Formats: sequence, structure tokens, C-alpha cells
Amino acid sequence: MSEKKMLRQHMLTYISGLSEFERKNIEEKLQNQLVASPVFQQAATIGITISTAQEWATSSIMEKAWEEGKIIASPKCIVKTKEMQYYVWNQLDQIEAGYAGIKEPIPEKTTPIAPADIDLLLVPGVIFDKDGYRIGYGGGYYDRMLADYKGVTISLCTEKQLVDRIPRESHDLPVELIITEKRTIKTSK
Ligand SMILES: Nc1ncnc2c1ncn2[C@@H]1O[C@H](COP(=O)(O)OP(=O)(O)O)[C@@H](O)[C@H]1O
Ligand SMILES: [Mg+2]
Repeated sequence: MSEKKMLRQHMLTYISGLSEFERKNIEEKLQNQLVASPVFQQAATIGITISTAQEWATSSIMEKAWEEGKIIASPKCIVKTKEMQYYVWNQLDQIEAGYAGIKEPIPEKTTPIAPADIDLLLVPGVIFDKDGYRIGYGGGYYDRMLADYKGVTISLCTEKQLVDRIPRESHDLPVELIITEKRTIKTSK
């Protein structure tokens, strides 16, 4: 097994072992810090995944964004090319379970949006380092997305998911900001 794969599995096991109390406590701090951040406040359009049960919840972040009149766009995976297309949505009947059971916008009921029109992109991941490099879920979807994304990138993680250095491959791309339950880190990206 590759080093990345081992690290990924180890961290996913750790996260799934957190108690509901610990998880909610971390989650609330991540959400509060994000919605209070200047990049969130300044963003008119936010690209954000619809979280699965294993990920830090994104629903209350979306609620807050909608309350503030912001536009929410979520990705749909194009499995064949391992790319993503973002769509603007604002009602639960516009999303459905797609790739790997992940909830995604229904193209027929939503409006596609280009990466250039997304001001702030939330980048999910399993492990991050202080330079913003990440280990994702292994599909390379965000490495492809970030290759031509020019807006602000931000990730949410608990302190335990943040390490000094992650093994990097030439296609891996870093995020600009990382929010943990304790701090916001501006990476060297
Ligand atoms: N921009 C890209 N163009 C082509 N292939 C890519 C690109 N980015 C990533 N990949 C491929 O996607 C696969 C998964 O990438 P990896 O970095 O291991 O996963 P993740 O970032 O999800 O943890 C790798 O085999 C990698 O070669
Ligand atoms: Mg990668």
C-alpha cells in the first residue's frame, strides 16, 4: 500500500472513532470560524460539497450563506474523466445521491457554473499539511479542479488532521487557507 493510502486509512479510522460529542464540538468551531472569516464574508458565490456522514458537516454553512444572500454551488463528479462540474442550487429537491452515494445537484434542476464564477472554494480532504497540501479520498478530483481554479481555496479540518508534511506528487495542489477548531492558517500557497 502507498504511504498516502496508509495515512488516509489511518486518519479515516481516527475520525470515524470520534464520539458524537467530540465531532459536534469540533464541527461547530469549524463552522463558526469559517462563516466569520473575511473570505467567507466577502464571497458572493461559494463552492461547497454536500457533506457525507464521515465529513465535517456543511449544511449549516450553506444555511448561513443562503441567509446572507450568497450563492451556493456544489459539485457533481464526472466519473469517466474524474472531473467535477459545479451547479447552483438552493432547495433539497434539487439534489440526489450520485457517485459513491455522495449527494450531488441534479443537472436538469440546477444551473451549471464555471469555476471562474466561484469566489470561494471549500476543498474537502482527509489530511492536510502546513503548506496546504492535502490527501483527499484518492480520486484526484480536487487536484484536477485546482489546476485551473483562480479563486480562494479553504479547507476545514481538526488539528489531528493537520501534519507537518504530506508526501507530495507532482499533480498535488495546495489550498490557501486551513481552518481548524483552534486557528486559521494561511499557507504558503
Ligand atoms: N491534474 C491531473 N491530471 C491528471 N491526473 C491527475 C491530476 N491530478 C490528479 N491526477 C491523478 O489522480 C489520481 C489520484 O490523485 P491523488 O493525489 O492520489 O488523490 P487525492 O488527491 O484524491 O488524495 C492519481 O493517480 C493522479 O495521477
Ligand atoms: Mg492529490
